[in-house]
Amino acid sequence: MDTIRVGVVGVGRGMSFARGTGPLVGLELVALCDTWEERLEQAGKQFDVTTYTDYDEFLAHDMDAVILANYFHEHAPFAIKALQADKHVMSETSACFTIAEGVELIRTVERTGKTYMFAENYPYMVFNQEMRRLYRAGEVGTVMYAEAEYIHPDPAEVIMGRACGTYHWRNWIPATYYCTHSLAPIMFITETWPEKVNGFVMVRREDDPVNERTIKFSDASSMIALRMDNGAVVRLVQVYLRGHGVWVRVHGSRGLMENLRWGERNMLRVVREQYHEERHHPEEVIYRPDFPEFHQQALQAGHGGGDFFTNYHFAEAIRRDEPPFLDVYRGVTMSIIGPLAYRSALGDSNTIDVPDFRREADRVQYENDDWRPDPVKGDPWPSIEGRKQPTPEQVAFSREVWRSKGYEGE
Ligand SMILES: NC(=O)c1ccc[n+]([C@@H]2O[C@H](COP(=O)([O-])OP(=O)(O)OC[C@H]3O[C@@H](n4cnc5c(N)ncnc54)[C@H](O)[C@@H]3O)[C@@H](O)[C@H]2O)c1
Repeated sequence: MDTIRVGVVGVGRGMSFARGTGPLVGLELVALCDTWEERLEQAGKQFDVTTYTDYDEFLAHDMDAVILANYFHEHAPFAIKALQADKHVMSETSACFTIAEGVELIRTVERTGKTYMFAENYPYMVFNQEMRRLYRAGEVGTVMYAEAEYIHPDPAEVIMGRACGTYHWRNWIPATYYCTHSLAPIMFITETWPEKVNGFVMVRREDDPVNERTIKFSDASSMIALRMDNGAVVRLVQVYLRGHGVWVRVHGSRGLMENLRWGERNMLRVVREQYHEERHHPEEVIYRPDFPEFHQQALQAGHGGGDFFTNYHFAEAIRRDEPPFLDVYRGVTMSIIGPLAYRSALGDSNTIDVPDFRREADRVQYENDDWRPDPVKGDPWPSIEGRKQPTPEQVAFSREVWRSKGYEGE
């Protein structure tokens, strides 16, 4: 197949997808779409491509594929429309905001036969790719327990600079929803699927100085406990806590592997006790792995190289006409852990079954499940503490930051 012509929606995060196109991956950027005109114009000039403020007009552009980096909670309807317009789709997280959207998205991918890829880049970080290689080679046995953390604190001006507008999604999506950066690596390494979920939410604390300046309708962070289809237990921690870090640990029946928590965090630690067995390995090794392919190119890309591999695997899936590993079933499954875990947290962290949308019976059960938190109307509120209103100090500080970004709205 010739070069795949692609358009990108959203010129925030979308710019890294745009930068990652080119002959090496076989994607050619041909169009950009955003409703924020000034930023769009700038991006259009930078890449010298056609720009659109209207999504329908953008979809009419002569191109093969669309990459979605618009708002977190609006991907599924955009993806469905693009698939129906005969485009392949790669979508940022979350794949769907409601569970019903997930069902509709899966059905649309099946009906249209187009390629859909969930753009989770964290599995493609170098230590996660190496852990997948080791796991598949049987080096640590079968997963029994795994943990993954995506902990991302920032100064108030950075937090509010990324979230222009009182009701920007980053200011209100519940603390369990941004769970795919931690879950995706575990599913990628071990190829297990979640079957049961319990959600726990940690509220914001008044003695955190960042909270004095940030508008947030949601809680700080969450811990999600999962039981996987092979009986393994998984613990995920995500979003806002102090102590920045991305960390993955897998305990198998024969050994442990994890990336380092301090120092060079791309390094891997593998522990394999060999008690009475013939000795094949040192008991503990710590080393810096290489990417399995495209090592030099990946080193230049964002998110620890992950941003190179999402574009690459999307293009490969289209060229081969085969679903990527991060297909619509995995993308939707990872994404619905967010709402399911939040429901659990609201229900005293009770256990909830995770539907398997590879099965039609499960789809039918959830096809009308439109449950979604709302920062204005509630039912439910996006915080387990209920309704929240920003203080005058939080509003004043946030507005000042937004103006500095060129955002004049409320
Ligand atoms: N995988 C990662 O490492 C990573 C990193 C950052 C963001 N993200 C994801 O990428 C997505 C975008 O993140 P962001 O930080 O750029 O968010 P953002 O809200 O800053 O940007 C979204 C962009 O989409 C545009 N947009 C919204 N509605 C639109 C519409 N109807 N038509 C055209 N454009 C529209 C907005 O104007 C904005 O420029 C989110 O889903 C986020 O979760 C992923």
